[in-house]
Amino acid sequence: MKVVGVFYKGGEHAKEQPKLLGTIENQLGIRKWLEDQGHTYVVTDDKEGANSQFDKELVDADVIISTPFHPAYITKERIAKAKNLKACITAGIGSDHVDLNAANDRKVGVYEVTGSNVVSVAEHVVMTILALVRNFVPSHEMIIKGDWEVAAVAKNSYDLENKVVATIGVGRIGERVLRRLKPFDCKELLYYDYTSLPADVEKEIGCRRVESLEDIVSQADIVTINCPLHEGTKGLFNKELISKMKDGAWLVNTARGAIVNAQDVADAVKSGKLMGYGGDVWPYQPAPKDHPWRSMFYKGSQAQGGNAMTPHMSGTSLDAQVRYAAGTKTILDNFFNGKAQKQSDIIVENGEYASKAYGERAKLADKVKNFTAYETQK
Ligand code: NAI
Repeated sequence: MKVVGVFYKGGEHAKEQPKLLGTIENQLGIRKWLEDQGHTYVVTDDKEGANSQFDKELVDADVIISTPFHPAYITKERIAKAKNLKACITAGIGSDHVDLNAANDRKVGVYEVTGSNVVSVAEHVVMTILALVRNFVPSHEMIIKGDWEVAAVAKNSYDLENKVVATIGVGRIGERVLRRLKPFDCKELLYYDYTSLPADVEKEIGCRRVESLEDIVSQADIVTINCPLHEGTKGLFNKELISKMKDGAWLVNTARGAIVNAQDVADAVKSGKLMGYGGDVWPYQPAPKDHPWRSMFYKGSQAQGGNAMTPHMSGTSLDAQVRYAAGTKTILDNFFNGKAQKQSDIIVENGEYASKAYGERAKLADKVKNFTAYETQK
């Protein structure tokens, strides 16, 4: 079989750090294992445009491995070109870069390594909340610049204690975020999801479900987004929903960039409606140099802070890479040997959604037509 992998380039960093498994150089550490079984393994980072290496290789690929960090957007058109394609594997979590409806039409299975980096992301969320609330970034930049002006950075610095924090989505990551926030003695921990946590878990964490999105965002000082990108969540945080948030609230998004409207978020931070926005996910990756989130600061000034963006890296810590590389190998092994995949790793299979995380499908039926979860525009 032919397996095509699309990964990010490691260059000198991959030489320096062999644990960077998710790079084109280290290739998840599965080349020998695949070739010993007679499979062909082609790896590239060139994924942009119709003449990319990825486009050339996918025409006779049986399996595509991709990562959310350097997403090979597996569009309807690309699925149509890949006549032999049977399985798409996400080395990580979040398969929105695959057109799941087109995969279903062709009965291509889409799998991901569920749970592989949920702790990594939850830690990044807590770090980002603290970085924004404490106003860490401009305080640190001040030191690097050789300055010392405590009032300039203390004026936007608060405690997390006694704040209301809300997660949109309380799956593996959302729940872990709430658990990690418990010792901070927040005023309230809230969640919004169509799936309830069991009553004993709610009690243990000390959190409360809020049934309306508008209600939850209007009560929270800090909102963290932890749901997948699908027909029901694309562009969810737009000008209108942001206007329902508290003045001076913080918004943290490590789920997917396209769940928010990029320009509306940048405008809200610049105007001071939001005190800050942070996360690691962008509507199209790599993000262009002139993306509004690179130059978005509270009240329009870098010295004020309010920007805690990083490249897409929360779920690709070295510890996470070991887990998603091993999980990808297991999914491949099951696939080659006709063994059933672990239920929680299946996103779509045999033309149907197997995961409940990608929205309440029946309610989204009218939105499915012509939907692309990923952003096709840079
Ligand atoms: P999960 O499947 O365990 O949980 C997702 C939760 O979102 C489910 O409880 C689901 O019911 C809920 N949900 C779906 N639609 C919703 C909606 N419209 N409103 C409210 N809740 C909704 O997934 P997990 O592991 O917690 O990951 C969540 C997302 O985080 C992934 O889909 C991915 O997009 C993102 N992620 C980002 C990473 C990064 O490196 N930045 C790494 C891993 C995941």
